[in-house]
Amino acid sequence: MENLVERDAKVVWHPFTQMKLSPFSLPIRKAEGCMLYGEKDKVYIDAVSSWWVNVHGHGHPYIAKAIYDQYLKIEHSIFAGFTHEPAVKLSEKLLSVAPENMARVFFSDNGSTAVEVGIKMCLQYWFNHSNPKLCLIGLEDAYHGDTFGAMSVSGRGPFNAPFESLLFDVEFIPAPVPGDEEKSKAALNAILSRRNDVAAFIFEPLVMGAGGMKMYSPEILDELMDICKENEVLCIADEVMTGIGRTGKMFATQHLRNQPDVMTVSKGITGGSMPLGLTLASEAIYEAFLSDDKMKAFFHGHSYTGNPLACAASIASLELFEIENTFDKIEKINAKHQDFAKKLQSYSCVENIRIQGTIVAFDLRSEENTSYFNSIRDQAYNYFIDQGVLLRPLGNVIYILPPYSIDEPILDQVYSTIFSFLDKV
Ligand SMILES: Cc1ncc(COP(=O)(O)O)c(C=O)c1O
Repeated sequence: MENLVERDAKVVWHPFTQMKLSPFSLPIRKAEGCMLYGEKDKVYIDAVSSWWVNVHGHGHPYIAKAIYDQYLKIEHSIFAGFTHEPAVKLSEKLLSVAPENMARVFFSDNGSTAVEVGIKMCLQYWFNHSNPKLCLIGLEDAYHGDTFGAMSVSGRGPFNAPFESLLFDVEFIPAPVPGDEEKSKAALNAILSRRNDVAAFIFEPLVMGAGGMKMYSPEILDELMDICKENEVLCIADEVMTGIGRTGKMFATQHLRNQPDVMTVSKGITGGSMPLGLTLASEAIYEAFLSDDKMKAFFHGHSYTGNPLACAASIASLELFEIENTFDKIEKINAKHQDFAKKLQSYSCVENIRIQGTIVAFDLRSEENTSYFNSIRDQAYNYFIDQGVLLRPLGNVIYILPPYSIDEPILDQVYSTIFSFLDKV
């Protein structure tokens, strides 16, 4: 009997993986709390929340029960023309903790589709107002997903190079990271002084995840949003990674004085248990679609739109924030990251240490460029895996993004594994 790894290598095609160079994947048998259990007693600390989705730890019985109970009531039904309690309750609950101007919730399946929906809402908003605008503005090095619209508004690079000529009209401005704030503002002003067809500005608020955990201040984002608002450009906050507590508040945009017109949510919304994408819109956006003319409706939907199981998991996860005082845990992680960052400063191979909420990141000084394909990446990844810690460096950027339920000694173990790697390099 072949083992799981060999069977997998014959039939499965894994995401973001060069299958020729890495044909074998690590088998996982079970997950509990912050731990992933492999074969032969191998255990991994999930220090990246399983691609940034996990919130309360794996296998949380409260979420498991909510999904099970929901399955017995209704596991799925069409969402066009029909509704159900979990979708309505989740919308009510989410809007009560979202930025105040968010008024409507649109359902899809994942972060990329939440972004597609957000882009389409903004483009059709202008179309429905008989003032078509087709250009979008994004940040260089942004990552918004892998579908065509999401790729179009993402920074141009290796992930989307094969499709570049098919991507639509997007103007990019430098990310407003420390030192580049004025450059970013000037670029935005320059675009808006030569174009009057800009529909929307899309951004990952405060932390740009896949582009290298780049961080920037709420103040500069507010300034960029001020400029957009003065020029009638809609703002789309892509909170797929930053939402649900990741940056220390429920949503990163809640660190701002401005509010977005459209906001995307996914990843942590179900606590990391089920796929779900949500796009929240202000009342003004929603109203632009109300008409006696059927053609002004938003013609978008997916087979699993509004899936009740994903909604039930999300409601349970939001309830756990109150039951388990999750924001206290988030604060504790942030305080521990601050101590870790202080210790990191003594390493000459470390630069650009940054923290936002539960995320800590730094660059490994390198003769190569800071990039996803920096050769230190595989060396670091393999070392951490050998030590039983799942960390996925973005090139030479090392970061920790743990489930909020991580116990202090376990987080200490993640830190000490990183220190031991730094001692080696
Ligand atoms: C900010 C942001 N937007 C969108 C996405 C795409 O989400 P998904 O992988 O669920 O399609 C991601 C994924 O990492 C993301 O970080």
